[in-house]
Amino acid sequence: MSDTKKTAKLSFGDKELELPIYSPTAGPDVIDIRRLYAEGDVFTYDPGFTSTAACDSTITFIDGEKGELLHRGYPIDQLAEKSHYLEVCYLLLYGELPSANDLEEFENRVTRHTMVHEQMMNFFRGFRRDAHPMAIMTGVVGAMSAFYHDSLDITDPQQREVASVRMIAKLPTIAAMAFKYSTGQPFVYPRNDLDYASNFLRMCFAVPAEDYEVNPILSRAMDRIFTLHADHEQNASTSTVRLAGSSGANPFACIAAGIACLWGPAHGGANQACLEMLKEIGTVDRIPEYIARAKDKNDSFRLMGFGHRVYKNFDPRATVLKQSADEVLELLGVENNPILQVAKELEKAAIADPYFAEKKLFPNVDFYSGIILEAMGFPTSMFTPIFALSRTVGWISQWKEMIGDPGQKIGRPRQLYQGETSRDYVDVEKR
Ligand code: SDX
Repeated sequence: MSDTKKTAKLSFGDKELELPIYSPTAGPDVIDIRRLYAEGDVFTYDPGFTSTAACDSTITFIDGEKGELLHRGYPIDQLAEKSHYLEVCYLLLYGELPSANDLEEFENRVTRHTMVHEQMMNFFRGFRRDAHPMAIMTGVVGAMSAFYHDSLDITDPQQREVASVRMIAKLPTIAAMAFKYSTGQPFVYPRNDLDYASNFLRMCFAVPAEDYEVNPILSRAMDRIFTLHADHEQNASTSTVRLAGSSGANPFACIAAGIACLWGPAHGGANQACLEMLKEIGTVDRIPEYIARAKDKNDSFRLMGFGHRVYKNFDPRATVLKQSADEVLELLGVENNPILQVAKELEKAAIADPYFAEKKLFPNVDFYSGIILEAMGFPTSMFTPIFALSRTVGWISQWKEMIGDPGQKIGRPRQLYQGETSRDYVDVEKR
C-alpha cells in the first residue's frame, strides 16, 4: 500500500476526524476508514459495495470508463490474441508471464492432475439426471475436501499450491462429467496428450463408440472463452471466495461457495439467461417489444447480457467474443443462425436507444459467450459451468493473495439496524 501523504477530513456532530488517503497504481484513491467506528462511533453505509474497496490487490484492474481490463498489467485483448488459458493461469497465479520452461513445467503439472478420484463418480449417481450442472458442480467441488486431505491446510504454502493446481486441473473434468451425466452418456477420461481446451471438448463430446477429433478452431475458441472469463477483480463470486476464505475454510469449500454465487442470473448465470431470452424473442420483429419491457419500470424484465456494475462503456471481453462468434458460426456454417441475427439486431437497437445510452448499458461478456457455446453444441445449462471452470483460476489467485496477506482478518461487515429495539417477552395468553 502506498505511503499516505493525503488525508480526508470528516466532521460531524462534535467529531473531527482526519482519515488517511492512499493512492493506487491505477484507479481512484481510497480513504482508509478502519478507525472510523473506534474514533467516530459511526459505520459507513454502502449496500452492494458500489463505493467500497474491500481489499488491496495486484492481480486484475478494470477501468469501467475506458473499457479496460488488465491481468497483472497485460490488456485482455492482447492476452486473448497472443496468449492461451494455461499461460494466463500462470500469470494470474504467479504475477509474471512464464519462461518457456516454466510454462511447460506448469502445463505438465496441471495435465497430471486432471483425473478425479474414481470414487467421486458415486456423487454423480446421487443426482437426478435433470439436475442442473451447477448444482452438481457446487456439490462435487465442495466434496473434494472429503478426498484430498493432503491439500487442506491453508497455512502450508505447498498445500495451497497443490490445492490450486488440483482445482484448475479437475474443474473441466467435473464439468464434463456433469454434462455427460445429464445426457446419460458414459464419462470420458481426460487425456494427457491433449491441450486443456481440447481435453475439455473431448470429455464433453466424445463417445466410446467412435474416435473424436478436436476441431482446432473450436478448441481455440474454447480456450479464448476460458481466457476471457479467467478473472475480473472483486466481482460477487470472487468476493464470496475471499469472504469464505477469510474464516480459514479449506480451498475446495471456498471455490464451491464461489460457484454457488456465480450461478445467479445477475452474475455468471446471465449467459444462460441471455440465450434463453434471445430464444424467447425468437425473431427480429419482436425486438422492440422486449426493448420496451426492459425500459418499463413496472416490468422486472431486464435485457440479459447487458449492463455491468463497473463497465460504463463497453466490456472489452464482449468485443473479443463478438469476433470469435463470427469465426465459430462461419466455421460451423451457421452464420445465418436466427439467434445470432436476433442478437446482432438487439445489440444495434439497444445501443441506439437513449435509455441504454443514458444508463450506459452495453453488451457484457455474457452476451456473446452463450451464442458461441450454443453453436459449439453445448446446452444452455452448461454455459455457467463453463464460466465457473474458467473463473476458478481467478478465484484461487485472489484467495491465495488474501491468505498470503499478513494483515488478513476475518471479513465481518456491520449493518444499519432498522428493527425493533429491546422489548420484553409476552406470554402467549397475553398476545
Ligand atoms: C457478470 O461484477 C463483475 O465483474 C461480473 C462479471 C464477471 O466477469 O465476474 O463481469 C460477470 O456478472 C456480467 C453481468 C451479467 N449480468 C447480466 O447481464 C444481467 C443483466 N444486467 C443487470 O442485471 C445489471 O446490469 C447488473 C447486475 C449487471 C449491474 O447492475 P448494477 O450495476 O447494480 O446496476 P443497477 O441494477 O443499479 O441498474 C442501474 C439502472 C437501473 O435503472 P434505474 O433504477 O436507475 O432507473 O440500469 C437499469 C436498472 O433498472 N438496468 C437495466 C439493465 N441493467 C441495469 N435495465 C435493463 N436491462 C438491463 N440489463
